[in-house]
Amino acid sequence: MGRLENKIAIITGGADGIGHAISDAMAREGAHVFVSDIDDAKGSAFVDTLRRAGLKADYVHCDVAEDKDIADLIARTVDQTGRFDILVNNAAIAIGGMPVHEMTDEQWHRLIAVNLTSVFRGCKYALPHMIRQRSGAIVNMASAQGHIGLDGWTAYAGAKGAVMAMTRQMAVEFGPHNVRVNSISPGTINTPMNEKVIADLGENVARAWVKMHPLGRIGNPEEVAEAAVYLASDAASFTTGVDLRVDGGLCVTPRFVPDLV
Ligand SMILES: NC(=O)c1ccc[n+]([C@@H]2O[C@H](COP(=O)([O-])OP(=O)(O)OC[C@H]3O[C@@H](n4cnc5c(N)ncnc54)[C@H](O)[C@@H]3O)[C@@H](O)[C@H]2O)c1
Repeated sequence: MGRLENKIAIITGGADGIGHAISDAMAREGAHVFVSDIDDAKGSAFVDTLRRAGLKADYVHCDVAEDKDIADLIARTVDQTGRFDILVNNAAIAIGGMPVHEMTDEQWHRLIAVNLTSVFRGCKYALPHMIRQRSGAIVNMASAQGHIGLDGWTAYAGAKGAVMAMTRQMAVEFGPHNVRVNSISPGTINTPMNEKVIADLGENVARAWVKMHPLGRIGNPEEVAEAAVYLASDAASFTTGVDLRVDGGLCVTPRFVPDLV
């Protein structure tokens, strides 16, 4: 018996990276996963793989910057299954690596739309169903960047800090409806997002990342997925309003990293 048997889960940005690992882990724990993404080819191929393994999975196109896409994703899931237990607001983009005064308004608004407004919208459309059911678990993807300072990532960190603040507020507001809202703050994780950052900013960034984490390495998406499964499962039935750091100790190290400056 899996830890998420008979649960219905939606994961945004599920075609690759951390969202892929979460979708895979949740499906293996018995959930019916609705994998959503903008990369339809990758998302559909992934869902085919899950189905061939005998797992319950559907792919739904959803650009989290589009209000209608999120509304449709949640409506379709509920229409098809009659319920909705787990929402993982995972999709986000990395726009940064530049001083805040060099960031354009366009970059700022794009980042806020994909990384923050998406979380508001996901919750906005999920909560009425969860309140009606009197149960639900929302897991929002924050970041170590919402806890610590790092050159060049002010806007990204601002969005992630807001995700954590909203998580706490919603935990308070919807706890009486038995809806739990938690977040996860990964440290540096080996995903396509970071492959792109390294391609843009150079290999010295990758070396600095390793040094920054007391565990002496960056993390794997599966290590974040394990935290998401836990927070979504009944094992976390008395846990809400928490930010679970999966960061190899990054947020508690006072270590100075000369390669970064
Ligand atoms: N990788 C890290 O080191 C790290 C660290 C802290 C937090 N995070 C957070 O974890 C989450 C996942 O990051 P990742 O590293 O797996 O990213 P990734 O870029 O490797 O994968 C993101 C996935 O989201 C999809 N996506 C991008 N824009 C989208 C949109 N508008 N609508 C829907 N889907 C979209 C992509 O197609 C891709 O499948 C993000 O919230 C990120 O901020 C990542």
